[in-house]
Amino acid sequence: MLAALDGYGVFLVKYGVLQAIRLATSLSFLVAIYAMRSSLDITKLHKFELTTSQLIVFGSLGALNVVGRLTPFASRLLIDRFKESLQAAQATAAFAKLFELPHGAVLTTPTGEFGQLIAKVFRNLDPLLPALYGAVIPIFVETVVAVIFVGVAYGPITLVQLALVVIYTLTAYRFARAKAQRNKDMMTCMLSEWGKIMASAGAYERAHFFGNVGFEISATRGRFETMGAKITAVMAGEQWEGMCQTLISLLVMAANVVLVFLVVDASTIEIFSLIAYLVIFTTSLDAYALGISNLRTAVYEYQAFDAFIHRLSDVSDVEGAVELPLTSSPTIEFANVSFSYGGRVILDDVSFKVEGGQRLGLVGASGCGKSTIMRLLLRFYRPSSGTITIDGQNIERLSGASLRRLFSVVTQDSQMFNSTLRENLAYGKTGASDDELLEAAKLAELPLRVKGCVGAERASDLSLDKECGEKGAKLSGGQQQRVALARAILKSGTIYLLDEPTTGLDGVVAKQIQKTLDALSENVTTVMITHHLDDLKHAHSILYLDQGKVIERGNFESLIAAKGAFYRQVEARKRGE
Ligand SMILES: Nc1ncnc2c1ncn2[C@@H]1O[C@H](COP(=O)(O)OP(=O)(O)OP(=O)(O)O)[C@@H](O)[C@H]1O
Ligand SMILES: [Mg+2]
Repeated sequence: MLAALDGYGVFLVKYGVLQAIRLATSLSFLVAIYAMRSSLDITKLHKFELTTSQLIVFGSLGALNVVGRLTPFASRLLIDRFKESLQAAQATAAFAKLFELPHGAVLTTPTGEFGQLIAKVFRNLDPLLPALYGAVIPIFVETVVAVIFVGVAYGPITLVQLALVVIYTLTAYRFARAKAQRNKDMMTCMLSEWGKIMASAGAYERAHFFGNVGFEISATRGRFETMGAKITAVMAGEQWEGMCQTLISLLVMAANVVLVFLVVDASTIEIFSLIAYLVIFTTSLDAYALGISNLRTAVYEYQAFDAFIHRLSDVSDVEGAVELPLTSSPTIEFANVSFSYGGRVILDDVSFKVEGGQRLGLVGASGCGKSTIMRLLLRFYRPSSGTITIDGQNIERLSGASLRRLFSVVTQDSQMFNSTLRENLAYGKTGASDDELLEAAKLAELPLRVKGCVGAERASDLSLDKECGEKGAKLSGGQQQRVALARAILKSGTIYLLDEPTTGLDGVVAKQIQKTLDALSENVTTVMITHHLDDLKHAHSILYLDQGKVIERGNFESLIAAKGAFYRQVEARKRGE
């Protein structure tokens, strides 16, 4: 993971230099005293009577210590900078993965949950790299070097230091397991509760419509309390862990002092330098223990992230997926396609072919599976049996990006986002000029004016700078629908998938849009779902679905002539039923 990042080599070199200085600093006094043991006289030292060479050695030790004391800060700066690039890479990978999650899972996930997930990935690295590079690696290296040196110089007392590190590692590791579980509980709870809180916050109108403002507030209070309890559990665990480790370190420090006096046979100054070293070393183990525990926790979280990143869904490409060229007027074919959502059969043996440039109408009662056909075509789901081909190629084996590039889609909800009309429209074609946006809006019967252009304006005219509000709430339903259509026109797909594009529009505008669609569909293949059966007069073929089965097919005239379900529905509409 790390090695793949740009600049990892440079990071390691700089880090290695800083760690060498740190190591030299922490052992310098102990080593110097050992090296000068025969020439150092404690009584002279006490009176500050030193030889020139001793003065130089102690002066150098002082200078080295000044530099050494600064290395943890320099290391942290280095680690933080490196962490930043890793954070961006990982969080982006998690974000990209969102678009490959199962369609159904995305629909059922509370708003905001994914934002939290990405925040979690982002935050996970906060403790991980400092724990690894700032505490665990330096202390580990120091322990190895110091244990060898103390062993050679002062004998078996070195085993105390070794035992100390082993005890610290084991207890920290043990604590870390429980801590990781508590953190996981907390994060799961936060993800879910924040998602619900954000969803409640977005329910402004619905809450007022149903007199449920009080209900939303008290439900949210409950969610904050649930989150608070989990956070307190994590914090309490940390305090207990801290207390236990402090007790261990105090006990070990005392044992060290006593043992050094009892076991080590050396001059007084050496004994004191050894005790001083061991006390400082023991103190630095607190950061090490925290590092081990943070590292274990972060690795645990990383495993969850890794599982998330490698999760496969129907939306993902198969290995060796083929790129589909962007051809004009592609041919679409469904051959014996069946599909179930979670075991419930929605489409049953559906077959049809739309030749390139033709227009297919899908009609049938609400819930009969019309929008599902569109979702299968976009490969949000894969059929349970049968095949879907475009220009003869099974869409299962195509790259999703090249497949979806073909479509200009208008769905039942307009999918607007909280920004200006310009940005909402330009989403159909990145970098489109205002003129292109205005042209598309005109085709979609959306009256628009450029900001600042005064003249023959109508009160209903919109400007490109108009803010659309959350989910387009500042536009009327009909305006949103026309923005959605203009955006699809801008995309210039070669297959138009239109899911009730004129529902909610007044009759005059709907007719005008229908004319635009008729004109557009001369050069593209179109699949149009509608309850306005008259809109299908120019369709090459119409499928009438009932409970996932095609029960009638033909063009408008032949279906009327057949006097079946389609005919009855057209008649019922005429009578205004
Ligand atoms: N993601 C999903 N998970 C489970 N069931 C679903 C899902 N989406 C739709 N359904 C169910 O599948 C059936 C077909 O839904 P679909 O959206 O295709 O209907 P439709 O024909 O487009 O209806 P309408 O005219 O009301 O838009 C419905 O019964 C619906 O409840
Ligand atoms: Mg539908």
